[in-house]
Amino acid sequence: MNESHRIKNHVLRLSFDMATENILLVINEIAIKMLRMENHLTTEAAASYLNVSQARVRKLIKDGRLIAEKRGRDHLIQEADLEHFKNHGRKNVGRPLENGRAGARVAEDEPRHHAKNLKGTPLGNGEILAGDALNVLPTLASSEFQLIIADPPYFQVLLDESWDNTWESTDDYLDWTLKWVCECKRLLRPDGILYVFGQLGKREHVWLHVCSLLTKEMQFHDMIIWDRAVGYNERYDSFTPQYEMILALRHAGNSTPFFDKDAVRLQYDEDTIQTYLKDKRYKDMHARERHLRKGKYATNILRVPSLKGASKEKIGHPSQKPIALINQLILSASRKGDKVLDPFLGSGTTAASAEQLGRKWIGIELKPEYNEISRKRINGILATPEFSLY
Ligand SMILES: C[S@@+](CC[C@H](N)C(=O)[O-])C[C@H]1O[C@@H](n2cnc3c(N)ncnc32)[C@H](O)[C@@H]1O
Repeated sequence: MNESHRIKNHVLRLSFDMATENILLVINEIAIKMLRMENHLTTEAAASYLNVSQARVRKLIKDGRLIAEKRGRDHLIQEADLEHFKNHGRKNVGRPLENGRAGARVAEDEPRHHAKNLKGTPLGNGEILAGDALNVLPTLASSEFQLIIADPPYFQVLLDESWDNTWESTDDYLDWTLKWVCECKRLLRPDGILYVFGQLGKREHVWLHVCSLLTKEMQFHDMIIWDRAVGYNERYDSFTPQYEMILALRHAGNSTPFFDKDAVRLQYDEDTIQTYLKDKRYKDMHARERHLRKGKYATNILRVPSLKGASKEKIGHPSQKPIALINQLILSASRKGDKVLDPFLGSGTTAASAEQLGRKWIGIELKPEYNEISRKRINGILATPEFSLY
């Protein structure tokens, strides 16, 4: 092959390569366009995807909460962005708490038909969601919460409170209970614990049925006795009741829930330590002293005095739990930064405890007046740098 032949061949190959490359580029571009078209939704499709109106989608785009590309008179929204919005959209609403420090906000419950839109919404650092737990729970993301503390209505125990008397029968109450517990089960991390408060009550011993029902749905983990230190009703046909119960549930199977026994050790007083140190059976008294000063493990009988009417901590809720009790549940069953949920927040005890202990939290509560109490309570904590409210 002479020189001119070789050059001609080289040019031919080059132009062939360039043509192929061009064709490939064009094919690639078409493919990308097709992919983009496939993965993009018009505002109409996006509205149906999010189950909101098209106007709402356009507003979200206008507010910069949804990323969209202008196409003629319409917008195209990437499916991935929509998915992200569906999961994280609520994060953009309002002013998020910086572990609560920026100030608590109360998000209004979406109407029932909108609840689906919020399904999968993860929590911020601290948030009160006003509304019916049955509507709000389905809007939260699965397996998000390390710990769920539920202190639900007891059913006909507090006869003056409308929220404790809305069920026609025990069966209605049990059906309702199973519904919210199933949602909590979905929300609980694989190594999480769901605590459900209950008491035998004055009239209906519904709690026993609740325990039976819930231990079929989830794995029984423990039954904690809250020893209220003082008896609480005028029963003359038996001993005066003095305790409430906290049923601890976990996921079924071999799940081992996170539990930090060291976090809730009980300190010995100095006299007791000195008495124990007189025991000569121990050779290494320094090791013995170190051991004693760590304190002893707490039992599953938690003795915390119930709140008296005159208590400084009491802030206007008929079944407000002492924060010292909730602190022990949160300290032992979650780590700093973990997410804690309370579906029946009441006066915000779980939120207050979680906030003070550096956990993220979400509380759901039906009654606006209680949400106002919680909001003030959390803001009070946030305004107290050393968190020494009580
Ligand atoms: C036993 S109290 C919780 C008290 C709370 N642990 C505290 O320390 O203040 C139960 C709360 O559940 C609320 N509640 C009742 N039904 C509800 C529902 N369907 N969804 C959300 N909250 C509800 C009541 O208004 C009440 O404040």
